[in-house]
Amino acid sequence: MRIGRIEIDRPLCLAPMEDVTDPPYRRLCREEGADLLYTEFAHCEAVTRNVTSECRKLYVDETEHPIGVQLYGSTESTMERATAMAAEAGADFIDLNAGCWVKKIAKRGDGAGLLRDLKKFASVVRAVMRGTSLPVTVKTRLGWDADNIVILDVARIVQDLGVSALTVHLRTRAQGYTGCADWSWIEKIRAACAIPFIANGDIVTPQDAKACLDLGADGVMIGRGAIARPWVFRHMRHYLNTGELLPEPGLNERVEICLRHLAMHAEYRGVPRGIFSFRRNYAGYLKGVPHIAQLRAELMTMESVEPIVARLNRFMEEYREWRDMPTADQGGA
Ligand SMILES: Cc1cc2nc3c(=O)[nH]c(=O)nc-3n(C[C@H](O)[C@H](O)[C@H](O)COP(=O)(O)O)c2cc1C
Repeated sequence: MRIGRIEIDRPLCLAPMEDVTDPPYRRLCREEGADLLYTEFAHCEAVTRNVTSECRKLYVDETEHPIGVQLYGSTESTMERATAMAAEAGADFIDLNAGCWVKKIAKRGDGAGLLRDLKKFASVVRAVMRGTSLPVTVKTRLGWDADNIVILDVARIVQDLGVSALTVHLRTRAQGYTGCADWSWIEKIRAACAIPFIANGDIVTPQDAKACLDLGADGVMIGRGAIARPWVFRHMRHYLNTGELLPEPGLNERVEICLRHLAMHAEYRGVPRGIFSFRRNYAGYLKGVPHIAQLRAELMTMESVEPIVARLNRFMEEYREWRDMPTADQGGA
């Protein structure tokens, strides 16, 4: 699959996720085999007004290439300017978010709101393309709701406009996260356009990734299935290459990767701020491990890295029998 000068066979992509896929987590997922990274979405208006928290999202580290910077918005002139700023910040490509279902965003016409007016959608895509000479990609959903599924029209529009790749979360905006992603659309979308197509939605296991690729997707994007499970990319690639499933990591490996993440996160956010914002990750990394209630309660009170490392190492010593035992967790945060 090719996006501009980036060429990757059956890429495993880390989904853009606000408050999750910050630079340290992207780096960890890259180390664990994620082929393509995306930033958290940034709002074009806030970017062009130089709002620090939003401009910070454009930042990409040199170790992160290839990476797309994702923008959302629906005002053409602002999108064009924000795109130019994102391109200057070091993106390899710009991804337009046309799929966010959050009420206050979609209702005002941004994100999935663009799917209610495909002329407007095309005009926003053109504005993004005017803002940069980099490749432009689009991430969207099937449509506004079950009565307004427009994805095949969207696929033809983006192809005609010269968009470099299309990612589809295979649900409608109205579904949010309810029901199942409908993978039966993969074949229809594939048939409707010849540009690279990345399938997204409920891809959690290596077998899920293979099933979507076999149905005709050029790549797959993993969101919730990669939260506190960065190894999922390595497991998927191994399965695609060999047909062999790797065992779910045991306690030892989970703690080791949790501490790697903590160190990167604390370095990026600073201490103690980074220690506080990291707290939401313990439940995910320790999911399925017995006797963690007390441990988690203790970790929540700690304000620097060293006591956390010491406590987790002590926990592993106490539960030696669990060290290499695969946990019950099969993914999905
Ligand atoms: C916490 C969270 C934050 C998200 N933030 C974004 C975002 O910034 N941009 C975006 O395009 N999608 C965002 N999404 C949607 C995901 O990229 C993805 O499309 C969706 O979760 C479906 O994939 P999954 O079933 O693999 O999770 C977010 C999802 C979650 C769970």
